[in-house]
Amino acid sequence: MSVCKIGVVGCGSIAQGIHLNILPRLPGVEVAAIAEPDPERREAACRKVPNAKAFDDYQEVVDLPGLDAVLIALPNALHADAAVTAFAHNKHVYLEKPVAIDLDEAWDIVEAWQSSGGKVGQVGFNYRFNPLYRAAKERLATGVLGDLVSVRSVFSTAAAWNRLPDWKLVRETGGGVLLDLASHHIDLIHFFFGQPVCEVSAAVLSQRSEVPDSAVLNLRLAGGLLVQTFVSLSAVDEDKFEFYGSAGKLTVDRYYSVDVEVAGPRRDEATRLKAIKQGLHSVAKSPYLLEKRRAVGNEPSYQAALGQFVTAAGGGGAAGLRPDLLDGYRSLRVVEAAEESVRTGRVVALTGGDEATIHRVERPLK
Ligand SMILES: NC(=O)c1ccc[n+]([C@@H]2O[C@H](COP(=O)([O-])OP(=O)(O)OC[C@H]3O[C@@H](n4cnc5c(N)ncnc54)[C@H](O)[C@@H]3O)[C@@H](O)[C@H]2O)c1
Repeated sequence: MSVCKIGVVGCGSIAQGIHLNILPRLPGVEVAAIAEPDPERREAACRKVPNAKAFDDYQEVVDLPGLDAVLIALPNALHADAAVTAFAHNKHVYLEKPVAIDLDEAWDIVEAWQSSGGKVGQVGFNYRFNPLYRAAKERLATGVLGDLVSVRSVFSTAAAWNRLPDWKLVRETGGGVLLDLASHHIDLIHFFFGQPVCEVSAAVLSQRSEVPDSAVLNLRLAGGLLVQTFVSLSAVDEDKFEFYGSAGKLTVDRYYSVDVEVAGPRRDEATRLKAIKQGLHSVAKSPYLLEKRRAVGNEPSYQAALGQFVTAAGGGGAAGLRPDLLDGYRSLRVVEAAEESVRTGRVVALTGGDEATIHRVERPLK
């Protein structure tokens, strides 16, 4: 098996907590370089990958000869320059979400990737690889809920303002809950249904900084489905989806579910007993609980996402690999539409964005 030599640029909280713990364990991977300007973090990263060459700045790594791939976990405003340079120097790229801070930069990345002659371009929408969300997608596809009506989702984290880096507190450097958390759920909605968002309205709250730290998004998908998403950096730790249909409701809670839960449409004793039985059965039989307990960060999706990337970069092939950089672009379109809705107080209509036309989306005006 050929070894995939990878450079990790930006060794802050996600790289130290997740990427640099997973990559060394994956077969056929060598973390050959890291870049981090903060001396303490650089040293901490070197302790995790002692054979890696250490640099101060991502620019010294993204064009380094001998590297096959680069994992970009930089502040969001540096994503585009790092990704474009890495593709131009023949590297595969794993780019943390959001792909960039605006659509113009995101399109630069997409173009660099499309001109790279088939390099892997994966975006860090890792929750697509969470086993519960995969199971939810499969159950939804069976039609168990009858006619789908609406989706409600929440992605929120307990307030930790004193621990957020400065760049996360300012929109120009890529801060705010829309880029940080909403980008994930917008992508998951696309993962579940494969339909573009065609209408967006949003309201935001900025309690802790100039950027919104909480938001409610109302989306309509091209097929008509209504989606409401609440995201917050100032509330409680929660990540869940509820899907409503004419024949029942499917709930999946990434932190507390052990399996997807499907309830019938009526609120009667039989339905209640069935739900209790289903819950007990799930707890007793859940392979997910063990997988979760063993996973780095108690979240199995990170390893699965990185595993897919290094396999493809190591020669497994990039064809059809998702989530790709167009998925990153698609999610950012909805984030920008939400921001426009907040500015104008209007519902923003989006056209295109489906699988057939996203490649032909016009470059946004500079
Ligand atoms: N997929 C997920 O679930 C997930 C979770 C957290 C963060 N992220 C994403 O990962 C990225 C990093 O987030 P974070 O929370 O780790 O932020 P962070 O600020 O903790 O880490 C970023 C690191 O980049 C370093 N850096 C700054 N300038 C640099 C340069 N010129 N060269 C090299 N390194 C430089 C900083 O010193 C810092 O250590 C962001 O894009 C974020 O959205 C994704």
